[in-house]
Amino acid sequence: MCTHFHYPPPELQRELEQIAQAVCASGKGILAADESTSTIGKRLDGIGVKNTEENRRDYRELLFTAPAELSDYISGVLLFHETVYQTTADGKSMMELLRRRKLIPGIKVDTGVVSLMGTDAEKTTQGLDELSKRCSQYKKDGCQFAKWRCVLRIGLNTPSYQAMLENANVLARYASICQANGLVPIVEPEVLPDGDHSLERAQKVTETVLAFVYKALHDHHVHLEGTLLKPNMVTAGKTSRLVYRAEDQARATVACLMRCVPPAVPGITFLSGGMTEEEATVMLCEINKVRGKKPWSLTFSFGRALQASVLRVWAGRKEQVFAAQQQLLNRARANSQAALGTYQSGSCKGVAAQADQFIKNHEY
Ligand code: 13P
Repeated sequence: MCTHFHYPPPELQRELEQIAQAVCASGKGILAADESTSTIGKRLDGIGVKNTEENRRDYRELLFTAPAELSDYISGVLLFHETVYQTTADGKSMMELLRRRKLIPGIKVDTGVVSLMGTDAEKTTQGLDELSKRCSQYKKDGCQFAKWRCVLRIGLNTPSYQAMLENANVLARYASICQANGLVPIVEPEVLPDGDHSLERAQKVTETVLAFVYKALHDHHVHLEGTLLKPNMVTAGKTSRLVYRAEDQARATVACLMRCVPPAVPGITFLSGGMTEEEATVMLCEINKVRGKKPWSLTFSFGRALQASVLRVWAGRKEQVFAAQQQLLNRARANSQAALGTYQSGSCKGVAAQADQFIKNHEY
């Protein structure tokens, strides 16, 4: 029976809680730089840079050597496996760079999405094989938190019961394996923005998905105080003709989370899901401005919406490294203000601030 269980040892509970709280500390969020080799390849392709190990290294080195002010806004960095074991051009380990900047390293541990047979193109996420062994090694090598992304698609008949149950269950298995190895699991059930659905439908689907997720986490005895949630913000579908104000979408997001996420969870670190840099910052700020109860820290774990301007300014050119780092610093500062509800819309002028980041059926 799932009512018979043992709490994790108190020291492990405290350790997980401390990591989770440090990652979602007030006014701080996560730089998601955990693009797989093929995904970073698409980003590099977009700026005319070849997807070689050296170029990936140069790019990530640029991110992690940004001015120290970055750690006023960024608490942790999500990494892909390759980066954890990579060294800089002059032989320093990437993990050492993060330590110097007081940035907490996190690791993407899922191995990508696969199709669920008999569904309308629905997916689940793989990576449980050897996960405990991998988590134990990552912890020894300095990682403190992990991420696993599941995707759910809104359509006429989706997400299906099967997809919601399977994805919730695999997220819960992942979360319990991480915690057993001292890593804080970031639980990421992303409801994709693809589709022409209304804001109301997006809200109801996200609520239902989260209800499945928290039931599964409970069934698997996951210690919620030592977890973080990485959800989508609730918005109308990308091809919907309906127009909603950011504040209405923010209200829908907070209502959805209030109904489904227990207050024991310390932080909610949103993904940016294809919004422009500026849209994601404004939405995060509006979410934090919604009046009423919000018992968790509401912050960012943006990938595209933190890196679009950086990539464009850098474009593989050594002499542009400093300027690209300034773009990162500016957007990180803006998102920090948004996490505190104080961002002035339009005040952060990134070169790609308004560039659409939407990718159909986005994979990571
Ligand atoms: P985006 O912010 O680009 O949607 O990335 C989300 C993510 O899962 C990165 O870890």
